[in-house]
Amino acid sequence: MLAPDQREKLAAYLSRPLHIGSKSISSRAVLAPLAGLNHQAMRESIASCPGAGLLFTGMLSARAVPTENPRKSHAFSWNKQELPFLVGQIFGNEPAQMAAAAQRLEAEGFFGVDINMGCSVAAIVKKKCGAGLLREPDLARRIAACVRNAVNFPVLVKLRSGWQDDPRALENTVRLAQILEAEGVDAVTFHPRLSPDRRTRPPNLSHLAIIKQALKIPVFGNGNLCTAGDCLAMIEKTNCDGIALGRMAIARPWLFQSLLAGEDEFEEAIVKLRSSAVACLNRLFELWEPGVARKYYKKYALYLSGNFSSGSRVYGKLTKGETKQELVEALEAALDENTAELSRRPNMLLFSM
Ligand SMILES: Cc1cc2nc3c(=O)[nH]c(=O)nc-3n(C[C@H](O)[C@H](O)[C@H](O)COP(=O)(O)O)c2cc1C
Repeated sequence: MLAPDQREKLAAYLSRPLHIGSKSISSRAVLAPLAGLNHQAMRESIASCPGAGLLFTGMLSARAVPTENPRKSHAFSWNKQELPFLVGQIFGNEPAQMAAAAQRLEAEGFFGVDINMGCSVAAIVKKKCGAGLLREPDLARRIAACVRNAVNFPVLVKLRSGWQDDPRALENTVRLAQILEAEGVDAVTFHPRLSPDRRTRPPNLSHLAIIKQALKIPVFGNGNLCTAGDCLAMIEKTNCDGIALGRMAIARPWLFQSLLAGEDEFEEAIVKLRSSAVACLNRLFELWEPGVARKYYKKYALYLSGNFSSGSRVYGKLTKGETKQELVEALEAALDENTAELSRRPNMLLFSM
């Protein structure tokens, strides 16, 4: 656990405004893109404990975005209050399609667009999308250039270290990042792991330090940030301009608020866990039909139960029920019964599923 003066140091750093292209953010801690988890209900839960400088959507298909109906889509929906700090992440492999998707996001009032060059899921990569673009540097450059020319709002890119079978992986990714910067990309989120990767190995902070040093635009570091201590260590070891929190922000939606206030994020965890989880569950059922709400809740519950040392057992209890009322009751009972098993560090096994 970080000493109070170290917490204050971290809070002061994260509270320094950061310019991203023509805009600025007031917190350097942002929510990473997480498909299936970063839906509107979860973002509202996170935003109710203010502290995140930006919220990202999960990846959206660039082909679908131009004509997508937010009243029907679960992934492409938002509330107006979050738009000034909401970034839409898109994936695709056609420059003109990616540009059209970015234009839609700009017209809707999003903060910016994020181009996914980091996802290593096989179905995405084989279409030359996501981290597949790291193997197609000219296509990646053309996509960034086309998107940049099509919009005025910030253009961000999410990158990872490269591919394991490429002996020059990091070198090539650094070169690509510099090319993207030259094309007018405004910031990079960097996940320092090689693909293919199931997030079981620790992120390589030296990769992040190298990327940071090679670029002038802001770089957000990402990967396994679970505690305030992890965040401070990443900043101090790599000099990154900000941090992007993924799974832990789902497990503890109040994390940003605690980090920015210099508070211990574990204090009163059970109270905060209960209020944020119940609010998210209720909101899911308000926004969407029961089958969809249940599906998203069960996905979220995996991360919620990662807060407990016996997470798999808690998961079974948290998800017992079909109706909203049954699930709320199961959730409250599971939290009450297992308070003593809350653990400061998450159960990473659940986080890697
Ligand atoms: C369920 C899940 C969905 C994800 N979806 C996306 C996505 O849509 N786009 C993306 O760039 N990264 C995605 N990621 C990767 C995260 O943004 C992040 O890089 C990774 O989880 C490491 O950060 P963390 O340890 O803070 O979670 C996803 C990760 C998980 C676990």
